Amino acid sequence: MTRKLLMVACVLVGITAFLLRSRAAAPALSKDALDETFDSGISRLVIAWDQDDARPHAARRAALFDFMYETYQSSAWVPQSLFDTNAVTQAVVGDMDTIVGREVGLVRWRDNPRVPAFGMAPNVTTKDPSVAPKTLRWTVNCLVCHTAEIDGVAYFGAGSKTFDELWLGTALKRLTSEPWLSRLRSNPDDFAFAKEANRILNSHHHDKIDSLTRARSTAFAASHVEMFMRSHEGRMPDVAEVGRGDVKTPPLWHTVAKMPVGRWYSDGSFHGPFPLMASSMELEKDRSFETLSTAVVPVIKDEFTSVIQHLRAPRYPYAIDVVLAEKGRALFNSREMGCASCHGTYDGRGGVDWPGRHVDVGTDRGRLDVVTPQFVDAFEHSPLAAEGALKKSRGYAATPLTGVWANFPYLHNGSVPTLYDLLGPATARPKVFEVMAARTLDRERVGQPLGRAPKDADDRNWFNTARPSCGNGGHDFWSAIKTDANRRALIEYLKTL
Ligand code: HEC
Ligand code: HEC
Repeated sequence: MTRKLLMVACVLVGITAFLLRSRAAAPALSKDALDETFDSGISRLVIAWDQDDARPHAARRAALFDFMYETYQSSAWVPQSLFDTNAVTQAVVGDMDTIVGREVGLVRWRDNPRVPAFGMAPNVTTKDPSVAPKTLRWTVNCLVCHTAEIDGVAYFGAGSKTFDELWLGTALKRLTSEPWLSRLRSNPDDFAFAKEANRILNSHHHDKIDSLTRARSTAFAASHVEMFMRSHEGRMPDVAEVGRGDVKTPPLWHTVAKMPVGRWYSDGSFHGPFPLMASSMELEKDRSFETLSTAVVPVIKDEFTSVIQHLRAPRYPYAIDVVLAEKGRALFNSREMGCASCHGTYDGRGGVDWPGRHVDVGTDRGRLDVVTPQFVDAFEHSPLAAEGALKKSRGYAATPLTGVWANFPYLHNGSVPTLYDLLGPATARPKVFEVMAARTLDRERVGQPLGRAPKDADDRNWFNTARPSCGNGGHDFWSAIKTDANRRALIEYLKTL
């Protein structure tokens, strides 16, 4: 068995371990059951919410509940029974923390007795018993990519630092194919769901767009594939027609800062009131354009108004040297340094007046190049053309820096582990670092520790700046920053944003 398959087997064992423990929950969960444990489930989750949201608590809670348990009908649904009937994996009870937490890299939902990780969503029973699902099935939602854990604390809306989409996809494809699939024959309903999940997973996977590093995502390029397929009778675009451009997942709390400008994603290529590109195409594979416009886009728009635009950046959780930060503020806003001219001015209470600049500061161009004439054409033949425009951008967004302490590793591709490295000379930046080390904050340099040294430079568990689209050059302001004292002051100020 190759190493890869071994690892996939481990993932399956881990998922099974959890599901074995929760075997009593095999019937589909009810909304009431999820509701009962919702408040205790989110009691330690950090959710920074707009103070001015005038809605009553109950309305906000309901919106949050719907968002956190959001599911779509035509996603790949994996039946619980597939895990239960797996004799091989049943024999081994692993530890959920080490397997799902480490191999798949999801954020464990430790305070939730029914759902193992953020972004895993169960089907729920409905009031009408004639259409009520009888057995438990799982899918994923926005939060697999849009939640992160730092120093053991889960942050709602932070971009994932560890989730490995490719591992999960590979594991689920195997689990829904032979020999596991046949074990479900005695349960025709679940058998049909698993078979369908396998078809969806396989027919929507374009090898070209697998990210080269775990916890980097190609959701934007995947939108191109999805749009192309629907306007070409299900045919995949050729390899030459598709780009990849690995990026880190940005935080949802940038939404409020970007709304007045209306340009979205790391390159600002999507122009419109809300970012609907990756969000709407990623989860709802296998929907026709028609159902996307009627059933998916309206739901996501509603989530933007009811939840996402109300999210604010989480405060830095440790001590800040206020005198040093004040020096940093002056530098940041100074003309010599120029930071504010691109990144905007910050009000000290978590707000920013964002100028919406998208500029080429010499960083890796891989993701910019994803927007090709073919992509624009596929976009224009899709229902999203009614929601905005796709235009090639000259540079990446000079991102809002709200909550930037939590947004490591830095730059659109997550190629620079700390603020200290980003604000120093580009040539001194680390070339390789370990992805899973990003679960811990390095408070000294602000960002992630480098972790262990890799045994194999190609291992997806390490970020390697030598890979295509993973370059760590550019955004070098050392000639303006000049001294380590200035750099320290800037970092201290950035902690306050
Ligand atoms: C597979 C991982 C994944 C899933 C699932 C996902 N996203 Fe994202 N999201 C991303 C990535 C990656 C980007 C950045 C893409 C880029 O710029 O190339 C992004 C960007 C965004 C942005 C930020 C745009 C900006 O300009 O700052 C928002 C808002 C967003 N997603 C919302 C959602 C919502 C809502 C959902 C669920 C309906 C969702 N996402 C599902 C990975 C994901
Ligand atoms: C000419 C415009 C410009 C100036 C001046 C500038 N930046 Fe940036 N900054 C950018 C752009 C563009 C990016 C995104 C580049 C990318 O993602 O590849 C960025 C990215 C960043 C990031 C990474 C954010 C993240 O979440 O990954 C930080 C931090 C940052 N800048 C801080 C600063 C500081 C501090 C200064 C002043 C010393 C500064 N910038 C000056 C344009 C600028």
